[in-house]
Order: sequence, then C-alpha cells, then structure tokens
Amino acid sequence: MKILIIGSGGREHAISMALSKNSNNNKIYAIPGNPGMLEYCECININQLQFNEIISFIKKNSIDLVIIGPEVPICEGLTDIIEDIGVKVFAPNMLASKLESSKRFTKELSLDNNIPTSDAKWFIDFFSAERYLKSLKPPYVIKADGLAAGKGVSISENYDDAIIALEDIFNGRFGENQSVLIEEFLVGEEISYFAVTDGVNICPLIGAQDHKRLLDGDLGPNTGGMGAYCPPPLLSKNLENKIISHILEPTLYGLKNRGINYKGVLFAGLMVKDNEPKLIEYNIRFGDPETQALLMLLKSDFTELVMSVVNEDLKSYKLEWYDQKALTVVLANDGYPNQYNQNEEITGIDEAEMNPKIKVFHAGTKIRDEKLIASGGRVLNVTSIDESIENARENAYQAIKKINYRGKIYREDIAWRALV
Ligand code: AMP
Ligand code: GLY
Repeated sequence: MKILIIGSGGREHAISMALSKNSNNNKIYAIPGNPGMLEYCECININQLQFNEIISFIKKNSIDLVIIGPEVPICEGLTDIIEDIGVKVFAPNMLASKLESSKRFTKELSLDNNIPTSDAKWFIDFFSAERYLKSLKPPYVIKADGLAAGKGVSISENYDDAIIALEDIFNGRFGENQSVLIEEFLVGEEISYFAVTDGVNICPLIGAQDHKRLLDGDLGPNTGGMGAYCPPPLLSKNLENKIISHILEPTLYGLKNRGINYKGVLFAGLMVKDNEPKLIEYNIRFGDPETQALLMLLKSDFTELVMSVVNEDLKSYKLEWYDQKALTVVLANDGYPNQYNQNEEITGIDEAEMNPKIKVFHAGTKIRDEKLIASGGRVLNVTSIDESIENARENAYQAIKKINYRGKIYREDIAWRALV
C-alpha cells in the first residue's frame, strides 16, 4: 500500500513511525514532512495548503491512503477533494470539521444533545457582548468562534483585559467576521481524550494530559503544548465510561442528526471535577504532542486501525496497548511562542536514542548545509516508554541532557500532576 501523510510536526513523525511497522506499507510519503521522518518516508516539498499540487502528486504516484495530521488543511476541505478522486482519507470532511473550526457549532451541538459543557452565549457585535460581560463575574472566558491556532481563547480575571480580548476579536485579529463566545469558567483538571470513529462505531483509544503553558508550574503564555503523558492516573474506567456515553456517543448522534457523517479522530478536550467530565472543545485530529506518547503505547497495528475507520469496519477491530506509560517532553526554541532564533545546529540526538526506551521525534527542524538546524518554535519531542511515569520521565530528562542547540528550552515538570 502507498500512503501519504500530510503535515510536518512531531505528530506526523510519530504517525510515520507507527505506519512503518506494517510491512504491507511498501511506500510512505510525507508532504512536506520533516528531517526526522526521512527514516520512514520520502518527504515531498509541497506546501500542505497547495491542494492542486497535492492532488497531482496523489494521482501521479497512485496513492492508496492519505492521512492528514493538522487541522487547517482538513478545515479547508482537503479530505473532500481527495475523496472526490476516489482515494481514501483518514480525516473528517469539511462539514464534519466544524466540530473544531466553529466553537459555536460545537457548543450548539452540545447543548442540543445534553452533552455536559460550560454555559455560553455568542455575539456578533461588540456592544451586545460588552453588555453581557458587565453582568458576569470573573474569570471571563472569551473565545473567537473560528480557528485561531490555540490563540483565540482569553481567560482573564480582570474586566479591562476581557474587553481588550473582545475588541481584538471584533477588530479581526483572528480573521474577518468572527463571532465571539463568552463562556462560563470551568474549574477542575484538564485531560485530552482520543477516540476514532467510522461514522457508526466509536473505538475509544486513550486519555492523555498535555501541558499548554510555556513554563513550569503551568505559568507563562499558552503554547501548542510543551509535553504530554498517557494514560493519566485520573482517568479511571468509570470516568472513561462517562466520557464515552455522556460526550462521545451523543456527539456522533448529534452530528448524524445534522446529516454529517464523521470519520476520523475525535479528540475531546475535557475538564474533570469530582469524576464528572465536561467538554471544553473538540479537535478533529490527533493532538500534538499527545500523539507522540499515545502511539508509543499502541500495541495493535496502527495501519489496520486507520483502515478500519476509512473502510467503515471499526466494529471488528481489536485494540491492544502495551501495559506501560509514555511521556514526551517538548524541546522548544528560546522566545517561543513569540519570535525565536531559527538557525542553531542541533547535536546529540543519536546519543539520546542510544537508550532503547527513548525516541526523539522531530517537530521544527530543517537540514541546512548538511547540518540539522532548530528552525521551528517547538523543535524536538523527547519521548520515553517505561513501566511507570516516573521512569519514563527520568529517561526523557536524562536523554534531554545529551541534546544540544543554542536556545534549547523545555519544561522540567512534565507529568507533575501524575506524580504529586
Ligand atoms: P480551547 O482552545 O477551547 O481548548 O481553550 C484553550 C484552553 O483554555 C483550554 O485548554 C483550557 O485550559 C482553557 N479553557 C477554555 N475554555 C475554558 C472554560 N470554559 N473554562 C476554563 N478553562 C477554559
Ligand atoms: N496538544 C493540543 C493540540 O494538539 O491541540
């Protein structure tokens, strides 16, 4: 089988690793991929939003299956145009992708189907939003309706900051004609929960905990994610059953009622308090960096899982996990999530991987003058699997000491919630 992966981050590197374990996958390509993925794939230098070029490549190379990693090409309809030429895609279509691309859509769907979530109101003009805000108490949760690369959410203790957040959205900072959601603030512990669905059946995968803030102690600005581990001890069987029956199943039912056939990953961002989950948001793709940890734990064949989804045959799929824990620490570039250097040479990855319990996934790297360069905000994901979260964490932090580039930053407290 010939497979094409769309994307270039640590998540896509982990997906390529998981696909390479199946010997029937005789060729794996990535658009555009990254230097780490070269161990499993041929990387093709096409931008992931150049849909015409992607379609030509798929036709010319007789690709059998496309797996799309990031949300932007999915929300812009890449799945639909690939399916139109008769090629299978592991990602939801554009209509289904509203679950991530419109927070209002997901909130309405949740309220219509009694899915536990925060109360919210939405506004299309500043003055109505301001009037409503005045009637509330802090913390104020304000969200741009559409995709904003994780930056469209503002949580403020202070009324003036909340007004600035409102003005930003209505002034078009996250795109023209954005409406605004003002939400109830949820208290509790956050987890990510992953499942796949073929449109009829749901196959629950696993939970993970991300670390969205830049600095230790969950301080500093929000990022794409600074580290993750799975499974989190908080996720008991009982809680998992509630997530499936109170959140995932009614979501699929609600989508069906709106005439939407959803196939692919369901990634629920949840707040848990007193063992009760509430939905914060949905993503329509695997999480990054959660997937790097998740796929290290997957014992069953990933390609078969993906094929069961695209062939609508998930009911007969048997899922197995290694009875271990996995953890990933993101190495970033000093300055991230704002301006950062893009030119420093990376050394020591081979030494770090001498430990068989370590895998280093590339996220923001490039090859320049035959040297490996830290070119992105999030640069590498040092991932470990072991008997316990403590051991996996110890392995990862030992490995990190061997990797060097000027501007290397990382959190030193990944998995702190699991270890207190
Ligand atoms: P989102 O992009 O909707 O996932 O929001 C980004 C982050 O903001 C989440 O991961 C939460 O940490 C936080 N957040 C979003 N909505 C709420 C809420 N209603 N209450 C508390 N925290 C929230
Ligand atoms: N790690 C969070 C995300 O992928 O959106």
